[in-house]
Formats: sequence, C-alpha cells, structure tokens
Amino acid sequence: MRCVGFFITFEGVEGCGKTTQIKLLAEHLTAHGIGTVLTREPGGCDIADKIRAILLDAENRALSPLAELMLYAAARAQHVTEVISPALEAGKIVLCDRFCDATVAYQSFGRGIDRRVISDLNFHACQGVSPDLTVLVDCDPVVGLERAHRRIEATSGPREERFELEELAFHRRVRSGYLHLATEEPFRFLIINGTETIEEIFVAISTQVVARIPEALHAVC
Ligand code: TMP
Repeated sequence: MRCVGFFITFEGVEGCGKTTQIKLLAEHLTAHGIGTVLTREPGGCDIADKIRAILLDAENRALSPLAELMLYAAARAQHVTEVISPALEAGKIVLCDRFCDATVAYQSFGRGIDRRVISDLNFHACQGVSPDLTVLVDCDPVVGLERAHRRIEATSGPREERFELEELAFHRRVRSGYLHLATEEPFRFLIINGTETIEEIFVAISTQVVARIPEALHAVC
C-alpha cells in the first residue's frame, strides 16, 4: 500500500491533555481547508468501539495482560482497515488519539510484556501504516491523574477508568516508556510540555505540526 496522506498520532499519560489538543488541531486544520480525519484508539469504528468498551470497563479487572494486548491489537487491525488506511490513501491528514506507541508504553513498560511480542503484533495490526509524526504531550502522572479523575467524575456516560485505577508506579513506567520511545526516534516525536495552559500548548503544537505537514497537503483534499 502506498500512503499519500500524513499520519499524526497523539500520545501521553492519562489526563495529559492530548484529547483536548488533538480536537483543537483538527478544527484548526479543517478551518484552513486541509482535509483532516480525527479518530482515536482504542476505537474509531463500530467494532473497535465495542472492543474499547471491554478494555476500559473498570469491572474487567481480571483481564489478563496478554488478553488485553490482543484486544488492543484486534481493535487496531479493524481500525486501520476501516478508517486509517482508506483516509491516508485518499490523501487526508489523519489525526489519531493514541496508536501503536501506546501499546509499547502501556503493555510493555507498564505491564512488563516482552517488547518483541508487542512489535510483532503491532507489525501485523498496523498493516504497513506508521505515524509520520507523533506529538507526545508529556506531564507528571500525578498532575494527569488528578485531571483524569475530575473528568471521570464529571462524565455521565460509562466510567472508562480501568487504567486510571492502576497504581501511580504503573503510570510512571508508562511515562518513562513514552520518553524512552521519543529518544529512540527523535525525528518522529515532538515532545510538548503538558503542564502549560491549553492556549500555550495549542500554539506550540499547531505551529510545529503545521510546519511538518508536507506542502502538497496544504492545498489538496
Ligand atoms: P484514552 O483514555 O486516551 O482514550 O485511552 C484509553 C486507554 O487505553 C488509556 O488508559 C491508555 C490505554 N491504551 C493501552 O493501554 N494500550 C493501547 O495500545 C492503547 C491505544 C491505549
């Protein structure tokens, strides 16, 4: 498959602010006439959304790390097939709230599963698609978890809090996993300080992301 679009993923610990920022960026790009698809993982299409509900339901605490990993991979395979690949082939900018790096950070650094197992599964689930740019919204998990708990308390829908209930040490491992990944691929990762204001973070992200989007995609779509 030859992708002609541009694939941007957003990553970070719980409550880092990435979901707010990815929405702002999608609005910004759309307002500038750039064809943009905003999606998320786990989820992004009907079948993957059903898998998401299993993965994030706090009642499923007995889910084994390996079963959890495979559910993320299954959701990703469906999402790539149904949403991400077609959008990239149509020349869109795809903005995805979490992708394969989350599996390395959470299931390998967090849960301790061998990274080679995760790489193999990611290889198959991603079907040749890989992020061109990854925005890592970095913040201390203490700050992020406080925000995440406030958001969960204010939400009337299902309580998607299986990970928020993990101990602080788990979230610290996830954060260091992300920072480690960023050192492995410094050209793909853009690290943004998630403790600044929403406006300051948005200016930093939009300026740097727009500069990285290929010129050809500014006018098409
Ligand atoms: P969200 O809270 O950003 O919507 O993400 C859902 C949760 O799923 C979050 O706690 C991180 C976790 N996650 C993984 O553990 N592995 C993955 O591969 C992905 C995509 C998310």
